[in-house]
Amino acid sequence: KQRGKLRQLDMITQLVPEGVSISYVRQAAPKGLGDAILCARHLVGEEPFAVLLADDVIRSTRPCVAQLIEVYQRTSGSVLAVEAVPVEKTSSYGIVSLDSQRRVSSIVEKPAPQLAPSNLGVIGRYLLTPRIFDFLAGLQPGAGGEIQLTDAIAELLLVETVTASAFEGQRYDCGSQAGWLQATLDYALLRPE
Ligand code: G1P
Repeated sequence: KQRGKLRQLDMITQLVPEGVSISYVRQAAPKGLGDAILCARHLVGEEPFAVLLADDVIRSTRPCVAQLIEVYQRTSGSVLAVEAVPVEKTSSYGIVSLDSQRRVSSIVEKPAPQLAPSNLGVIGRYLLTPRIFDFLAGLQPGAGGEIQLTDAIAELLLVETVTASAFEGQRYDCGSQAGWLQATLDYALLRPE
């Protein structure tokens, strides 16, 4: 501040908007996405909550989570962001089948293409009700020996409406080097310098 670097100071202070606090929890062992979410149960409490997987970057004027919240406000049930994926890639995603109202009727983690119920893959944005925690707490390890969020959602959809939502925006798969590089370039090109 004394050196007059006010623009830089602004950038830092605006990282955390007013009224927002950040808490961290560590997952003690790499036991899967479901286990990681369960680690945050005491922070979430009895509220609906969003899960954002950082390796899926979504560029959109309306944030993807805001789009999911809109659906939640209509359905009062959990909402998953989905996107059509190439058939040969079904084994990288949770794959859903839907009824005519886009309610999820089944979900399976990383099926081989010949076993996949569709080519609609779950992208790393979820709006979940706290009911999911009881199902997560009761799970045995699933695909890859991990506690899978997908397996808990498969149980959740028997007791509440789970909706699959398409979303506006471009997704970058930053879990792959090519996707990460593409995201880096596209975001860089948005900057005048
Ligand atoms: C996780 C989920 C999977 C989902 C994917 C989205 O898999 O287990 O259901 O489709 O994120 O990116 P991961 O990419 O962590 O292997």
